[in-house]
Order: sequence, then C-alpha cells, then structure tokens
Amino acid sequence: MARVFSGIQPSGVITLGNYLGALQHFVARQYEHEAFYCIVDLHALTLPKDPAVLREQVKILAAVYLAAGIDPQRATLFVQSQVPEHSELAWLLQCMSYLGELSRMVQFKEKAEGKDSVAVGLYTYPVLQAADILLYDTSLVPVGEDQRQHIELCRDIALRFNQRFGDVFVVPEHQVAKLGARIMSLDEPTKKMSKSNPVPASYISLLDTPEQIQKKIMRAVTDVGSEIKYDPEHKPGVSNLLVINSLSSGRSMAVLEEIFAGRGYGDLKKDTASVVIAVLEPIRREVYNILQSTDLDAVLAEGAAKARAVASVTLRRVQEAMGVR
Ligand code: TYM
Repeated sequence: MARVFSGIQPSGVITLGNYLGALQHFVARQYEHEAFYCIVDLHALTLPKDPAVLREQVKILAAVYLAAGIDPQRATLFVQSQVPEHSELAWLLQCMSYLGELSRMVQFKEKAEGKDSVAVGLYTYPVLQAADILLYDTSLVPVGEDQRQHIELCRDIALRFNQRFGDVFVVPEHQVAKLGARIMSLDEPTKKMSKSNPVPASYISLLDTPEQIQKKIMRAVTDVGSEIKYDPEHKPGVSNLLVINSLSSGRSMAVLEEIFAGRGYGDLKKDTASVVIAVLEPIRREVYNILQSTDLDAVLAEGAAKARAVASVTLRRVQEAMGVR
C-alpha cells in the first residue's frame, strides 16, 4: 500500500485554504493509503515563537486534525519534535543539499524579504521538510500549490542521495489538487490566503464563528463588471469565491455558473457564506468538544511511537549508507 505523508505548521490559525487545499485531502487519503500526518512544530520555530503559545497551538492543531476527520486508528497523527529522527535526518540531508538550490526557494525569499536578520533555520527549512517525507518511505505528498517547489526539492535530494549511496530512499510525488490548491486572500484575491497575514479579514479561520465567516465573505473584494464566471486571470475575486463555493458545496463550476447566471455578486457571496458555514461550523464545534473531552497527549504519544518505529528504521539505513553508524 502506498504511503502518504503530509504536515501542517502549528503557527497561527488554520485557514479555509489549509482545509480546502490540504486537510480535506488528508482525510480522503487515509481510507486509501497508509497515512502519516504531522504537526510540524520544529518548522514553526523558524520564525520567533512564544513557547506557551506554541504548545497551545500544537494542541489546537491536533484537535483540528481530529475534528476534520483524521482517524488516529487509520492514520498516524504525531508531533514532529516527538520523533527526533526528523532533526537527525535533516542534518544528514543538509550535507547533501546546496546553497544554490535553497536560495531559489520562493517561500524563503518571501518570508525573508525586508527582514534585517533571518534565522538559518528559515533557509534550511525545506531540508527538514524533505527529511519529514523521506523518513516514511512516502510515495504521495498531498499539498497545496505553495508547497510544490519544496516537494520537488525533496525529490532532487532523494535522487541525488540514491545516485551516490544506492537505493536508500523512495522518491515521492506531490499530489496537488486541480481546484483549490491555491485559495486566495479575501481582501486581495491576487495573493494566497495565509494564516500569517496580519489582516484577519483576509482569511477564514477554521475557528471563526458563522457570524465572522458571513461578515468576511460579504466584504470580500470582487471584480469590475457583474458577470459571475470562473476566470481567475480577469476575475480573481469572483473566481476565488466560486472555487470556495464549489469545494464547500460539492457543485461543479459549470453548475455554479448556471445557478448564478444573471444574478449579482451579493447573491454569490450569500450562498458562499452559507455553504462554507455548513462545512466549518461542525468542525469548529468538534474542535472545542475534543479539546475538552479527548486526551490529546495520549493520542499524540501513540502516534509518535508508531511514527518512530518506521522513522528509526529509515534513519538507520541512511546512517549505514553514509558511514556514520
Ligand atoms: P503550511 O502549514 O503553510 O500549510 C499546510 C498545508 O496547507 C496548504 N495551504 C493552502 N492550500 C490552498 N490554498 C491556500 N491558500 C493554502 N495555504 C496553505 C499548504 O500547501 C500545505 O499543504 N512546509 C509546510 C508543512 C510541512 C510539510 C512537510 C508538508 C512540513 N513538512 C512535509 C508536506 C510534507 C507548511 O508550512 O505548510
């Protein structure tokens, strides 16, 4: 059975973009494959973090995973820092990665832009991500569009390693959905919806109340003209709402264009708010239930033990290949 691996950073809130572009696919994949899903707290350290806040966000993200439908009996859910093999493999892979290729990472350039000093960890971040994936002999990595370049780098590192040391790693493929892999910001629909955006109206959080969701969608920036059609280049605002609507309601783009033919942007927004609320409200309620009723530490400890059993075997193989064991 093919292995699936993916991760989400416990930094800030989890957005509708994370859900539609990644998390909902994680849920689907757990029924088809052996799945490992990670809360990547070590990645979150690449930007300054308050320790108490980080701990809290790890718990909330664990609850979000479960509330969205990840079943710890099917998928292995764990926290990255509880499996030390991730850090260790990351070092070994850093010795197989080049300054040039890391400098080309768009996400590094975006996150480092305008900062006086940038942590080295922000630069080597994609190598830790490669370690995450390669430790589990992963074949499929479901991600949003913004992670495509990181997965390609992971493939390059794995291929380079195998060429030098023999067939040690499974070379993974990314799985980027055709629709919804890049949900855009509500206030600037030419930019990605991001949890690190300081403007809360730009994103929908999985923990937003129905009233907040309604307000944010009704205020979403739309485009000139009045026609409702899917045309991301010329109508980025309307197209983003159509994508969100389609993925939340299960109706195809063609059906939505027919439903909204001759109607105004206000109608599209109202309908989109209602279908998004129908998807997110049960998740939000379930997150709070889980935070009160579930022993998340126990779930995560069990996940870490299962993850370690696999990761330690791969790490040993790598160490032996490189001559450090
Ligand atoms: P992160 O935490 O930024 O995002 C988690 C997942 O959500 C997707 N995503 C989106 N999809 C659609 N539209 C958006 N606006 C949107 N914003 C985010 C991301 O593409 C991602 O799939 N480095 C990774 C975490 C990571 C990881 C890994 C992923 C660490 N190790 C190994 C896969 C495999 C990150 O920061 O994702």
